[in-house]
Amino acid sequence: MSGLFISFEGIDGAGKTTHIEGLAQLFRAQGRAVTLTREPGGTPLAEKLRQLLLSDDMDALTEALLAFAGRRDHLRKLVEPALLRNEVVLCDRFTDATFAYQGGGRGVEDGILSFLEQTVQTRADLPAASMRQPDMTVWFDLPPEVAAQRLSGARAPDRFEVQDAAFFRRVANGYARRAAQQPERFFRVDASQERHRVWQQITSAMIRKGWLAIMVAANGGSVAGPN
Ligand code: TYD
Repeated sequence: MSGLFISFEGIDGAGKTTHIEGLAQLFRAQGRAVTLTREPGGTPLAEKLRQLLLSDDMDALTEALLAFAGRRDHLRKLVEPALLRNEVVLCDRFTDATFAYQGGGRGVEDGILSFLEQTVQTRADLPAASMRQPDMTVWFDLPPEVAAQRLSGARAPDRFEVQDAAFFRRVANGYARRAAQQPERFFRVDASQERHRVWQQITSAMIRKGWLAIMVAANGGSVAGPN
């Protein structure tokens, strides 16, 4: 089996984390080696850049440059080697987040982000046309007002989580725009549904792709999920 690269996106509060962990368990239970990682971050250098990005004051372009700098290191040191070993790489956020947050949220031009995307995600060992992209991006789509309610009372917010509703509206629009541009890669899930419905839709999508086998639990139910 060849490597699989799956990213998970959505505005803060959309509830990605438990599903990513559940999927890691499920892929492992089906015999696949899994690398579970995140952006910004995933390598020691990229985690340092994450700290800066989430805490230090800076302009929008600086944010984008830091996000892509971390991405470059992450791809070279962790993601590409894991895919070469035919692992399943589950990545909590990737480039769509830069288009949504720095592009939609903060106003960095798409042209600049596209140039950085091409440069950072093109591998020197392959023809120039081949840019690394996720095989699937699971997009947790949630109205910003619902996300804000879920976030209130959560742990100390970072630089992005303290932004106002208008910012999150622009971020959500940024995701919607990317999804419309690349519909073959995006799998949209309505994240306002109950968690078990969200889980069922994500696993079904992966079963349809042939990436997961259908698992029937001993009690006759369907695949176990996070609860
Ligand atoms: P997140 O992944 O939600 O982690 P946690 O669950 O620990 O809060 O937080 C990362 C934040 O970084 C999130 O608000 C989105 C933002 N971000 C960007 O602004 N640009 C990027 O390119 C990426 C990957 C994330």
